[in-house]
Amino acid sequence: MAIFYFSFILCFSFFSSSLSIHSISITDSASLYLSPTILFPDYQKMLKSFRIYMYTPPKPFSFTSPVESLFFSSLKNSPFVTQDPEDAHLFFVPFPSDLSTRSIARVIRDLRMEFPYWNRTLGADHFYVSCAGLGYESDRNLVELKKNSVQISCFPAPDGKFVPHKDITLPPPANTHATQAPANRTARYRGFVKYNGVKESALINDLRSASDFLMETEPSDEKTLVDRFANSEFCLFEYGADTSGIGEALRFGCLPVVITDRPIKDLPLMDVLRWQEIAAFVGSTVNTNSGLKGVKRVLDRTCKDDTCEGMRRLGVAASHHLLWNEKPEPYDPFHMVVYELWLRRHTIRYARSEWI
Ligand SMILES: *[C@@H]1O[C@H](CO)[C@@H](O)[C@H](O)[C@H]1NC(C)=O
Ligand SMILES: *[C@@H]1O[C@H](CO)[C@@H](O)[C@H](O)[C@H]1NC(C)=O
Repeated sequence: MAIFYFSFILCFSFFSSSLSIHSISITDSASLYLSPTILFPDYQKMLKSFRIYMYTPPKPFSFTSPVESLFFSSLKNSPFVTQDPEDAHLFFVPFPSDLSTRSIARVIRDLRMEFPYWNRTLGADHFYVSCAGLGYESDRNLVELKKNSVQISCFPAPDGKFVPHKDITLPPPANTHATQAPANRTARYRGFVKYNGVKESALINDLRSASDFLMETEPSDEKTLVDRFANSEFCLFEYGADTSGIGEALRFGCLPVVITDRPIKDLPLMDVLRWQEIAAFVGSTVNTNSGLKGVKRVLDRTCKDDTCEGMRRLGVAASHHLLWNEKPEPYDPFHMVVYELWLRRHTIRYARSEWI
């Protein structure tokens, strides 16, 4: 119990020191987490005990996307990495984003021959990073990698390239470097849709006609973007398109509205955060002939009785977990993704001595 309160306080003093928009109370923020009483003590245990063995890649390489690279370099330089595979809870198989499936199969075949660890669990205590994701293949090495190992994908993961409950997504990258909302915050727009370079759905086109909605038609500079996030009540994202502003929307107090026609199984930090406390999820076809009205109705309903102010406060707290740092900080995306790996360390089939 003593340990629990200690880490709880640690965590919340961390929030209050970096919170700039709202202050947040403990009871408030507890509802942000699926298991607040487990998360904080377990996170401390992870910091002390978690060990990952990293196989040496066949050739030095770098990842192509920013979040993959950031996760990789953060992990490489972290105290979680051990040189002694006997000491490891999990094994990391690094390979480049654009490696052909045939070459990936060869990587697995080689480490199966060279080390005893793959055969022990058929890959269940192994993980890899791949934004592109692995599809279903017939090669045995790829089948085991896909079915047993933890895939760290990017959010949103491509269709059919993600196995719920086992795989993890990296929170999307940020578009800006700002950490503070502009001083004179006033909700000038009801809804804001950031430019995302893809063809918009009928719904988004419909929203164009609404004068209180701002739809970007070209990318804007950082300052403008921050200003728009901070001065909009709702920020709309189409699931499957570019979701890269979602962390910033939360940080600057714009309530994310995710437009999706099916349940989302790959939200970042899904094992930790209660997403329904910080974002609204709306189907694009709820009101086929009145998309605009449908969305407006959902927005009105979401914000009955000041619920939105509470959601926005939680969203600011959540943004600390979702916005990447060049150098990892406590409870940031790097540490939270490692925590999700920590939660998956017991997928191991074979008896082994206990470390913790
Ligand atoms: C792992 O098992 C395969 C057969 O499935 C075998 O060929 C290989 O030598 C084993 N690896 C080790 C290191 O024993
Ligand atoms: C307040 O907002 C207006 C319009 O959005 C802007 O022109 C002005 O510079 C802002 N003032 C401050 C002090 O940030």
